[in-house]
Amino acid sequence: MTKTSRAVASPRVINVEDLRPLARRRLPRAVFDYLDGGAEAEVTLRENCRAFEEVTFRPRHAVAVANCDLRTRVLGFDISFPALLAPVGYSRLMHPDGEAGAARAAGVAGTGYILSTISGHSLEDVKAASAGPVCYQLYLLGGREASEGAIERAHNAGFSALVVTIDTPVAGMRERDFRNGVKELLEGSLFAKIPFVAQVLARPGWLASFLLDGGLPQLPNVVIPGQGPMPLLDVSAALARAAVTWQDLQWIRSLWPGPIVIKGVLTGEDARRAIDAGAAAVVVSNHGGRQLDGVPASLRVLPEVVSAVNGRVEVLMDGGIRRGADIAKALCLGARAVLCGRAYAYGLAAAGQAGVARALEILRTDLERTLKLLGCSSVAALDRSYVNVPSSWN
Ligand code: GLV
Repeated sequence: MTKTSRAVASPRVINVEDLRPLARRRLPRAVFDYLDGGAEAEVTLRENCRAFEEVTFRPRHAVAVANCDLRTRVLGFDISFPALLAPVGYSRLMHPDGEAGAARAAGVAGTGYILSTISGHSLEDVKAASAGPVCYQLYLLGGREASEGAIERAHNAGFSALVVTIDTPVAGMRERDFRNGVKELLEGSLFAKIPFVAQVLARPGWLASFLLDGGLPQLPNVVIPGQGPMPLLDVSAALARAAVTWQDLQWIRSLWPGPIVIKGVLTGEDARRAIDAGAAAVVVSNHGGRQLDGVPASLRVLPEVVSAVNGRVEVLMDGGIRRGADIAKALCLGARAVLCGRAYAYGLAAAGQAGVARALEILRTDLERTLKLLGCSSVAALDRSYVNVPSSWN
């Protein structure tokens, strides 16, 4: 066991927030803040977590619940508990285990993994790493031809679904990234990098593993015909060239025969549009507070979307999940399952695959305990009667 994987196994790591300082200690500031930060004043980032505090439980006591059934079915595949791993860009910058390590940990835990377009491991390697279902998150990075290639590769590799993110016409203003010189570090000349190099040198452990891993020069799933894989670039440049519109969805639909998930829905109107566009599921998401600052917490708009969808497609949500109790609350408000992003990425950054496994184990144990305390024997039985929702939410 390495020092870092010992740290995540320590009895001092009892919740997901305990993984955050371990990630902070291992990563250069620019990488940690990319993972941890949000857009502008980070109001939505904070709201995502705070909204869970506004919903309280209504337990049924003196009910014997010996075993809880945490299994659920999402997009036609069975998962061992209702939390999937969200797409997290640049995971391989956080740890050489990267996307393949996260997918492997998800598979071992019996759940699914969603691979970001902005990833350092290839579609094929990620699929081979996981025993569980794997989905591909699509940005139109590199243009339609590059995306067509990725969609075809995802299909040939056996990916289960395509997750199309619709909330990125441009990148949100992530002020921490600007201050930390992410653009200069990734794209700048040697001269432009100089003011920012100290933060990297301050983390020799991370630097050594990054260099041993080959220094992640390219995005292997964004292959531009005639040019090859796109070089690694700053996220604001990447997302500005990757926007998806409803018109693009018709074209995507014609290429991908499997289920399409629309991620980034925050209103009933967009949920209905997604269904009209042929979505099999929608993800209520504000991109972890990284895009338009000032939109409500995902949990806050979940009831509106669930009601607009009216059972026609599955509703997933992400944003602010840090505990099993958060997963339970999202399910009580109508989500089929949640996507966790930072919750596992802190673990990945701290200790690679072992850190992701630890985060998933914490969330799963938490969820099981929460169900027992609620007097509820399965995630399928969770509904609105188990929570109090502020009247202003209705
Ligand atoms: C990429 O999708 C990001 O939010 O950084």
